[in-house]
Amino acid sequence: MCGITGYIGYRDAYPIIMNGLKRLEYRGYDSSGVMLFDGKNINLSKTKGKVSSLEEKVSQEISTEGSIGVGHTRWATHGIPNDVNSHPHMSQSGNLVIVHNGIIENYEALKQELVSRGYVFHSDTDTEVLINLIEEIKTQEGVKLGQAVQIALNQVIGAYAIAVFDRAKPDEMVVAKLGSPIAIGVGDNFEEFFVASDASPFIEYTKNAIYLEDEELAIIKKGRKVRVRKIKDDSAIDANIQELQMNLEQIEKGGYEHFMLKEIHEQPRAIIDTLRGRLLVNEGIIKLSGLENNMKRFLNAERIIIIACGTSWHAGLVAEYIFEEFVRIPVEVEYASEFRYRNPVITEKDVVIAISQSGETADTLAAIKLARSKGAFVFGLCNVVGSSIARENDSGAYTHAGPEIGVASTKAFTTQITVLLLMALRLARAKGTMSSADYRMHLQELELIPQKVEELLKIDDHIKEIAKEYLLSTNFLYLGRGYNFPVALEGALKLKEISYIHAEGYPAAEMKHGPIALIDDRMPVVVIATSKGHYEKVVSNIQEIKSRKAKIIAVVTKGDTSVRAIADHIIEIPEVEEAFSPLLTTIPLQLLSYHIAVMRNCNVDQPRNLAKSVTVE
Ligand code: M6R
Repeated sequence: MCGITGYIGYRDAYPIIMNGLKRLEYRGYDSSGVMLFDGKNINLSKTKGKVSSLEEKVSQEISTEGSIGVGHTRWATHGIPNDVNSHPHMSQSGNLVIVHNGIIENYEALKQELVSRGYVFHSDTDTEVLINLIEEIKTQEGVKLGQAVQIALNQVIGAYAIAVFDRAKPDEMVVAKLGSPIAIGVGDNFEEFFVASDASPFIEYTKNAIYLEDEELAIIKKGRKVRVRKIKDDSAIDANIQELQMNLEQIEKGGYEHFMLKEIHEQPRAIIDTLRGRLLVNEGIIKLSGLENNMKRFLNAERIIIIACGTSWHAGLVAEYIFEEFVRIPVEVEYASEFRYRNPVITEKDVVIAISQSGETADTLAAIKLARSKGAFVFGLCNVVGSSIARENDSGAYTHAGPEIGVASTKAFTTQITVLLLMALRLARAKGTMSSADYRMHLQELELIPQKVEELLKIDDHIKEIAKEYLLSTNFLYLGRGYNFPVALEGALKLKEISYIHAEGYPAAEMKHGPIALIDDRMPVVVIATSKGHYEKVVSNIQEIKSRKAKIIAVVTKGDTSVRAIADHIIEIPEVEEAFSPLLTTIPLQLLSYHIAVMRNCNVDQPRNLAKSVTVE
């Protein structure tokens, strides 16, 4: 994880680097640091804590002059978050500086070798080892910085995105990537360059970017084209400059108090964008080129395996219900982290759908590689355009949710389900497992979802009132059945990660096999009881909970009377086909977690110990 930024050019580097770090804080925020070169001195400041703490420290500690520099916001892997372990790290001579995102797995062995050559280490990090390894290699006669970095990277095992600065070459920077993302923003006439973990830090300066691929190294020098080389064999590569589609507005809060709230409210628009050009109701057509071009592969598949983590895994679980019902194909949903290490049976007849908002989740990426190595066909479903997972597959589709910055995933979840619904409907038609009348009805219903979500968002104040009653609760249960069982899991995850309240999601009927023992008059239970989803059964489950005195917050379909009579709080969703209901039922649960977390003074967008994209296993 971690976020890195860098700048070489003619502007003041400091504000560009600090702004960039603030935009990258979603990647990690337990410590941060900055290095600036003023033409003579390397000025470096770093601290435990967020970028705002760094700003304070910098103002007391160093000069902010200079048009070249690097910055880092950290999510600790090796070494606790403290000032010393924060990046940037300097080499022993004080001439080289590095920022690093990733893990050097063999750092202990490399460290011992360097210690035997007289190197002294100040931090517990793998990164300090890497910069000293580069320095050691560079001491050899005639070895330039780019070569030294390349030789060092050929000795390390692990993952990295790095930017390296050398006092001896103050208009140059070397960046490299394996497993962690890095983008280079290219200014007009190559007069300035930006380096960052994603393009958000430089979006207001340039729309031209180079995304390095794994095992590539780039040498950036003011006034010269970027030179890209393969780390393994030093072969030259044409730097592919892409035009960015992102704009500044998309990555700002737009008047909302938190990114999470903004992103919850963006869902109608995000779903419309995800459906645009793909759902053609009048023509009765679904167009998804990644699916269409590989239709045979999908139709001949003996099963679909879905791999993902966290919220994306919950979207995968919803898809299991959808695909099995609509397409009548067996579906298995796997945590990517388990899948990759349990020697799974994978054949050439399998289609694997990998779901990831960031497209950078290390476990999902590794699971994809494993599935492909066994001959399975991999379809990637990502939100971040050009991300590693988006590139590492046989085919795929984007969700078009726009940048999701809040660590708690919201619009990514609903747009993932939207694409999965499109896929299932298209396949059901192709396979003949859904009648044409049903197919058309589902298409019409799907088109109405964004306006139903819009309508649902109007109950925000009502949810806030409910939140007030439960902000001091220490435990929550979330129950749902069928399509809404994964929504119960997702509701519990949202509450846990941003409010630090313990919460568990269960299939409603599993209650009596254990969790019912937890229930007493202090336990709030959120139950999803939509009118078409095993309604009577869920009502019985609610009765069972009520008779044990729990507080019931029920999500029901508009017009419901039975649950209203029993529950303590009612949240109504518009009437909808059951397969589409997760797109609605999840919204009040997102809002409930959000308001509880805000009332508990939690840092909603950057919850403790978490990071937006988990690029370590
Ligand atoms: O970027 P990905 O979708 O691959 O991320 C997967 C999980 O890390 C992510 O969904 C995580 O669980 C979120 N914090 C949930 O809100």
